[in-house]
Amino acid sequence: MIPENKDSGVSVKKLSVESYKGVRDFYPEDMFVQKYIFDRMRKAVEKFGYVEYGASVLEPAELYRAKSGEEIVNEQTYTFTDRGDREVTLRPEMTPTVARMVVAKRRELPFPLRWYSIPNLFRYEKPQRGRMREHWQLNVDLFGSKNIEADVEILCVANEVMSSLGAKSGDFEIHINNRKLWNSLCEMWKCTPLQQQKLSKLVDRKNKISAKEFEEQGAVILSSYLPNFIEAMNVTTLEKLEKGARETEGYKEIVSLIQDLEKRGINNARFDPTIMRGFDYYTGNIFEVFDANPENRRSLFGGGRYDDLAALFEGDKIPAVGFGAGDVTVRDFLETHGLLPAYGSSAQLYIAVQDETCRDSAEQLSGQLRSQGHNVILDIAHKKLGDQIKTADRQKIPFVTAVGAEEVKSGAYRIKNLADGSEKILKADEISSYLKTQLAL
Ligand code: HAM
Repeated sequence: MIPENKDSGVSVKKLSVESYKGVRDFYPEDMFVQKYIFDRMRKAVEKFGYVEYGASVLEPAELYRAKSGEEIVNEQTYTFTDRGDREVTLRPEMTPTVARMVVAKRRELPFPLRWYSIPNLFRYEKPQRGRMREHWQLNVDLFGSKNIEADVEILCVANEVMSSLGAKSGDFEIHINNRKLWNSLCEMWKCTPLQQQKLSKLVDRKNKISAKEFEEQGAVILSSYLPNFIEAMNVTTLEKLEKGARETEGYKEIVSLIQDLEKRGINNARFDPTIMRGFDYYTGNIFEVFDANPENRRSLFGGGRYDDLAALFEGDKIPAVGFGAGDVTVRDFLETHGLLPAYGSSAQLYIAVQDETCRDSAEQLSGQLRSQGHNVILDIAHKKLGDQIKTADRQKIPFVTAVGAEEVKSGAYRIKNLADGSEKILKADEISSYLKTQLAL
């Protein structure tokens, strides 16, 4: 038993009500938005036949060491040692987990697999607009196809997710690059692996520094090929790349991807030589989706082809392509474009008790409506009728009715719509169909 600390004179420090830095509490209004976003995402990806999977937030730390990229592993993971001396990481991304799951059952699974999940992920980042320490991320991945049609489909799914959230094609842009093209360019510029690594990091920072700083830092890494590098990083269309680059496999892969997207009516995809993606596992086309409004600088989606990741585990390679779309940046996008849904309670009807002698009848009515599938709140506050209605209104419950002696005697109830003030008098067994039509259930 916990001993009572009555007037011991020891002042107990009160706890802070703030959440841990960089994570969010989801009050019902926030949860409503999150649920809306996830519902739309689920519907959009399921249209293409993707099925949902899940996994634990805990993974062995080694899962991320080989391929997740230096920044994530060394600076951003939450890693601890458990009571059995194992190093455990709170997953910072879902891709290694899903690759592990696919490889574990590769003999039984019917490829190609179209899988999705909406996990929460943890990264020790500096919290800022578009960046949190915990975020949720829609992950959509296609395993078992090397074909360009898989890359095209993945971007069509990304596009469908955006339109299901109300975005128009001019509201966002798909920026595409290719790892093979980047490797070929670096080869043409005679880069060593270390120079290539340094250049990749510099390119990743390009939009955060001035053109002059970019060039100066480039000169520290490269010498004779510096002009070629600067020129390549500033081209806006593929055709402007130097001739050697236009003969590479990576170049051809981007061209087919962009052309196939255009054939499907997706005209907001373009080549962007500065897309690098921080992860080491990408092998082919890579892409990020950006808000056309510069207020949101952070990418909404990021992904690409990663044909070698599965080979980290025992067994053969399994080609794969996919993306992750974050809830924080998507929410910012919806806010910026006026696409956030208006909050409404999941309760449909508030039954106020006007007179305590009528409580049993009110209870009976709420039971009847719940058994008909409605979400009903029965008052328990014993407050004045006006106050009960005010509560219902503040909780954004769409309909209210009051049960008093008159209603019990007549069996007829006045159902009030709190948004427009309109009223309808109905018998108990008519209420359900009325709510269904009014709420489009
Ligand atoms: P990523 O680019 O690290 O890719 O993340 C994808 C998206 O998640 C980003 O575009 C961004 O919207 C969101 N995001 C990432 N970090 C944060 C954060 N700290 N706070 C808020 N949102 C964030 C990946 O994670 C890859 N594993 C995606 C993938 C799936 N590639 C292939 N399949």
